[in-house]
Amino acid sequence: MTIRDEILALKKEQGAVILAHNYVAGEIQDIADFCGDSLELSVKAKHVSAPVIVFCGVRFMAETAKILSPKAKVLLPRPDAGCPMADMASAADVRAMRRAHPGAVFCAYVNSTAETKAEIDICCTSGNVENVLASVPADKEIVFLPDGNLGANMIRKTDRNMILWKGCCPVHDAVTPGMIRDARALHPGVEILVHPECRPDVVKAADRALSTGGMLKYIRESSAKEFIVGTECGILHRLRRENPDKVFYTLKPELVCADMKKLALEDVLAALKTGREEIVLPEDVMKKALLPIERMISVGR
Ligand code: 13P
Ligand code: SF4
Repeated sequence: MTIRDEILALKKEQGAVILAHNYVAGEIQDIADFCGDSLELSVKAKHVSAPVIVFCGVRFMAETAKILSPKAKVLLPRPDAGCPMADMASAADVRAMRRAHPGAVFCAYVNSTAETKAEIDICCTSGNVENVLASVPADKEIVFLPDGNLGANMIRKTDRNMILWKGCCPVHDAVTPGMIRDARALHPGVEILVHPECRPDVVKAADRALSTGGMLKYIRESSAKEFIVGTECGILHRLRRENPDKVFYTLKPELVCADMKKLALEDVLAALKTGREEIVLPEDVMKKALLPIERMISVGR
């Protein structure tokens, strides 16, 4: 029996569901019941009725699934798969910022810890950030955390002034306008799509900034045959599988999130066999963090 077959057999036996982010390795995406971006995975986790959710992604995503599906046993097969950006805004830092801005609405990118989510007013993902910001009354000050790049890109796009946190995704922050220029010179006329976690000068130099789910949709619906993709390389697996007639180039160098790439099929199998690592969060944190996540989901995409 192959590892893949063992996983599928155990999954069936336990009634488990496997959710995977678009950045995990292709072989993991292939055994998942559902692949998606952060927003799609949150919505899926809310509606899933399985007793076990194996979350193939990083910790903040598995925590969000647990908060939305508290009765399910949520497993994170690689407990060391974190998100450096999520760790850039602690709950204590947010509490201190609240004291300095008592009237502000605190909006946190879903890439934040459960403890931090418990301290804020509304969450967003890169797939719904514009709608989330538009849902905040115009006279309210907004503190946006932890992604300073996503926030700055939104200020540029919406003209909504915000107080920005100084966090960033180290993977996307490493993209430079020079990489965009080089890619254009190498593939003239080919559209360049980047993630809104990239720096504003990069987003300005590219043609479009979209969440991973947004990129998949845009490319699926486009009549163009070639694209340059400026986000974590895991997305290429789905892009190539779903669009066999299209050609994809990456920005040089290919972008890799070390945390997303920690997970191997062996870890998924071990999680199903041992029931580890189960996400366990304090009751009060779950209760408080649910509110901003639910608010985000109700705003929609
Ligand atoms: P999305 O898939 O929501 O675009 O998020 C990207 C990301 O960095 C997740 O960690
Ligand atoms: Fe975090 Fe960036 Fe990795 Fe996403 S790609 S998990 S934001 S470090």
